[in-house]
Amino acid sequence: MQLKELGATGVMAPEIGLGTWRYTGGSEPLRLGVSLGANLIDTAEMYRTEDAVGAAIAGIRSQVLVATKVLGSNLRRDAVLRAAERSLRLLSIDKIDLYQVHWPNPQVPLAETMGALEKLVADGLVDYIGVSNFSVEDMQTAQAALRNNPIVSNQILYNLRRRSAERDVIPYCRQHDITVIAYSPLAEGSLAGGRNGGLRRALGMGRAPDALHRIAAQVGKTPAQVALNWVADQPGMIAIPKSNSVERTRENCAASDWHLTAEQRRELEQAYPV
Ligand SMILES: NC(=O)c1ccc[n+]([C@@H]2O[C@H](COP(=O)([O-])OP(=O)(O)OC[C@H]3O[C@@H](n4cnc5c(N)ncnc54)[C@H](OP(=O)(O)O)[C@@H]3O)[C@@H](O)[C@H]2O)c1
Repeated sequence: MQLKELGATGVMAPEIGLGTWRYTGGSEPLRLGVSLGANLIDTAEMYRTEDAVGAAIAGIRSQVLVATKVLGSNLRRDAVLRAAERSLRLLSIDKIDLYQVHWPNPQVPLAETMGALEKLVADGLVDYIGVSNFSVEDMQTAQAALRNNPIVSNQILYNLRRRSAERDVIPYCRQHDITVIAYSPLAEGSLAGGRNGGLRRALGMGRAPDALHRIAAQVGKTPAQVALNWVADQPGMIAIPKSNSVERTRENCAASDWHLTAEQRRELEQAYPV
């Protein structure tokens, strides 16, 4: 598994992590993913999967980077502090590695939220501060409000079908040592054979688009692996696919440690224009 530095923290994170929105797979897929090097697990108070993540990492906590998020509706100072406590309890851990603001909330000044996050860091309850769904302007405002900590990551929608972040957010993150954590890297499964990819694939339905299939055949990988590799094999970028299944988790973790050629990348990018 290729590693990427999380922000400029010196902490190394895998370029493929594990998402848990709508995750119902129990402990086995997550534990397998960690054993294969995908040791960044992403959850959120919104997902109601923090307890499942907590159960999955019991006994292996020190090997895992736990990333969770505070809801956009909980960004007042006291609400952030309470949300972090709840997350710690559900995750059964005493420190969150990466605490992310799930969405900006225009009704709450970012300075108030950032102040609460810095208190969590100062109190030893959070290691690093991240954001999610933040524009360039949001990131600038948030960073200006932080006194002692950098924003280390921005978790954004990014996959072959959704590339608008290439225009501004991704270049800004690269310039400022902010890791991009790409969510829905399989476009919720549609790049891997459709929603419920496994079932649809087993039934021979929902084939991935042609360019993806052609290149997957050329390189001897699956369309899901090509779609993930296209995201994760970019500087400063981590992809966090979600799968309930042990087999597909294994497949997704094997999307690292190899490269598409520049020509293959170009072909994919032409098939999915920005
Ligand atoms: N910050 C945010 O606002 C935000 C928003 C959305 C998502 N996220 C994060 O990003 C993570 C990933 O995004 P996502 O869950 O939206 O979508 P995704 O990872 O792009 O796709 C997940 C879907 O693809 C299927 N799948 C996974 N691997 C597959 C494979 N190898 N072959 C075929 N199908 C496969 C899964 O089904 P099975 O489970 O049946 O395998 C599931 O239906 C989330 O879980 C969450 O942690 C964050």
